[in-house]
Amino acid sequence: FELYLDSADLGAIHALSASLPLAGVTTNPTILASSGQGLQQWLPALADIFRGQLRVHVQVVAVTTEAMVAEALELAALPYDIVVKIPAHAPGLAAIKQIKRQHDIPVLATAIYHVQQGWLAALNGADYLAPYLNRIDNLGQDGLGVVGDLQALIDRYHLPSKLLVASFKNVQQVLQVLKLGVASVTLPPDIARAMLAAPATDRAVEAFSLDWRGVHGERLSFQ
Ligand code: E4P
Repeated sequence: FELYLDSADLGAIHALSASLPLAGVTTNPTILASSGQGLQQWLPALADIFRGQLRVHVQVVAVTTEAMVAEALELAALPYDIVVKIPAHAPGLAAIKQIKRQHDIPVLATAIYHVQQGWLAALNGADYLAPYLNRIDNLGQDGLGVVGDLQALIDRYHLPSKLLVASFKNVQQVLQVLKLGVASVTLPPDIARAMLAAPATDRAVEAFSLDWRGVHGERLSFQ
């Protein structure tokens, strides 16, 4: 299983990586723009913090197939572990097809709202498929249903792609997709923090600590 943070906030990534077994981070142009840094500053800063151990998903911003392929090649040539994100619409699917037939570059098909987009991206060889769970729900449609159908197609046809489910707005959504057997999810930092929060455990630990310290002081003693 691969767990990602959906963020370009280096402070948040660093802080959350202490408790989370992160495979890497995912970004999109909106997320990267909010970091206030260009890729040429942000990528080395991320690599410095994690010594190159994190996988980074970076989206193309070009709009034509030809320009998306060119950007993908540029990203893949950088000295980082980059997965190139390409939108799963017609020009993007054409770019994915071209890239996967001609180059050995990891690709994620992004902005998936419909099952058929994910299926076609998988047939074109996309390594990851990113359905936008909460955004689908916000259209009055069934995000969990789309994720479940895609997972069923991957399993049934032994497709080469893994689901990397994106766009979460609460912990319940995350737990629901995990039950479907998806290969990866990407969490916004606030959802990651919500998953780490356990106030009842905090209270229990505080009570244990008070009871122990009342008798023995601050630490375990073996004498
Ligand atoms: C993935 O990287 C997507 O760009 C992202 O998860 C979309 O999430 P949002 O709906 O919170 O913007």
